Amino acid sequence: MQTLKGKHIVLGISGGIAAYKSAYLLRLLIKAGAEVQVVITPNGKEFITPATLAALSGKPVVSEFFAANTGEWHSHVDLGLWSDLMVIAPATASTIGKMAGGVADNMLITTYLSAKSHVMVAPAMDLDMWAHPSTQRNIATLEHDGVEIIQPASGELASHLTGKGRMQEPEEILRRVELYFSRNESLKGKRILVTAGPTYEDIDPVRFIGNYSSGKMGFAIAEEAAARGAEVTLVAGPVSLQTVHPRIRRIDVRSARQMLEAAEEAFEVCDAAILSAAVADYAPEHCHVSKIKRENIDGLELRLVRNPDIAAALGASKGKRKLVGFALETDHEHDNALVKMERKGLDMIVLNSLRNPLAGFNKDTNQVTVIKSDGYEKEYPAKDKRDVACDILDELECIEGF
Ligand code: C5P
Repeated sequence: MQTLKGKHIVLGISGGIAAYKSAYLLRLLIKAGAEVQVVITPNGKEFITPATLAALSGKPVVSEFFAANTGEWHSHVDLGLWSDLMVIAPATASTIGKMAGGVADNMLITTYLSAKSHVMVAPAMDLDMWAHPSTQRNIATLEHDGVEIIQPASGELASHLTGKGRMQEPEEILRRVELYFSRNESLKGKRILVTAGPTYEDIDPVRFIGNYSSGKMGFAIAEEAAARGAEVTLVAGPVSLQTVHPRIRRIDVRSARQMLEAAEEAFEVCDAAILSAAVADYAPEHCHVSKIKRENIDGLELRLVRNPDIAAALGASKGKRKLVGFALETDHEHDNALVKMERKGLDMIVLNSLRNPLAGFNKDTNQVTVIKSDGYEKEYPAKDKRDVACDILDELECIEGF
C-alpha cells in the first residue's frame, strides 16, 4: 500500500558510514509513494554518491548553495516550505551539533533552519561520541526544539566496537515516518485535558509536601495528543519540563486545589481528560505565614487535611466525556485499580506497578496495563514513555462514544 502517497519528504544525509543505508531508506520511501528530495552534506558525498541518490529519487541531489555549472542558487527556503517532513539519516555528531547551535554552513542545516515541517533525526556514530556529554546536550536541545529523535540502536559499530550508536535500520525509520503521517489527524477536532506532575502543598514559605513525579508521562501524552491534531490543555504541577507543540495550552499550578480549579474549568469544553498527575492526598491545614523556626519548638506536629480528588470530581459530572486515570500501586495492583476506576467514574485506568524497575517516577520508561470499564484489559511491555503515550491514546480512541 502506498502509505506515503503525495507526501513531500526532505531526506538529509550527513557524512557517516551509515550513509550507505540511506540509499535503501530512500528506496523504501519512494516505494511507499513519497516524493523525496535528497539534501546531502559535503562529507556525506564521500560515503555515497549523489548519482545513486539522484537515480533512486528521480531528482537532482542538493548539496551546494550554488550549482557548480550554472551558478544557480539553491533555495533552502523553498525546500523548507515544500517539505511535509524532514528526515536526517544518518545524523552525525557534527550535524547534530550544528543543528543544536544553528550553525548554518551547509545546505542541510540551512534547510533544517527554514523547515516549517516536523523533523526527525536518526543519529549514527561511535558509542563514545554518542555518550559524550556534548552530544547528549545537543540531543536534549533538539528534543527541546521539537525534533523527534530516532534513538540509535546498540550493536556492532563501524569501529568494530560494540555499543549504542548504530543508526536504526531503514525499515524502522520508515515505520516512524508512516506513524507520523498516520497519527497526524486522528484526534483532529477533539479537545483533551491532561494533568501532569506532582502537586506541592505548602507548609510555610520555604517548605512543602511533594512527591517524586517528574511529569514526563503526562507531558508525553500532551505532546502526542497535540501531534494527532487535538487541542490540548495541560494542567501541570511544578515540573522542569518544556512543552513543544503549539496546540498545547499549558496552565501551571502548584497545589491540588489550584489543579482542581484549573482542571474543572478546562474540562467543561473537553471531550476527554487524562489524569496523570500525582496529586498529593493531603495538605497542611494551614500554611504558616512565616518560616517555622527550629529553636521555637521541640517537636512539630502538622495537621493535614484531605485534598480534593480531582478525578472523582470530574467523574461525578462527566456525562458523555471520557475519563482516563492512572494507578501506581505497590500491592494488590489489579484489584485496587478496579476499585479506583469504579469509585472515580473512570472509563479507563492505566496501571503501573512500582515493582517493575522500568516503571514509575522520574524514569524515561514505563510499563503499563490498561483496564477499561467494559472489562477490556491489555498488558503492554516496558517502553519509552513517548511510546506508552501512543498506546494510551490508541486505547482512548477505541473507547466507544469517544
Ligand atoms: O487514588 P489515587 O491517587 O491512587 O488515584 C490515582 C488517579 O487519580 C490518577 O489518575 C490521579 O491523577 C488521580 N487523582 C486525582 N486527584 C487526587 C488524587 C488522585 O485526580 N486527589
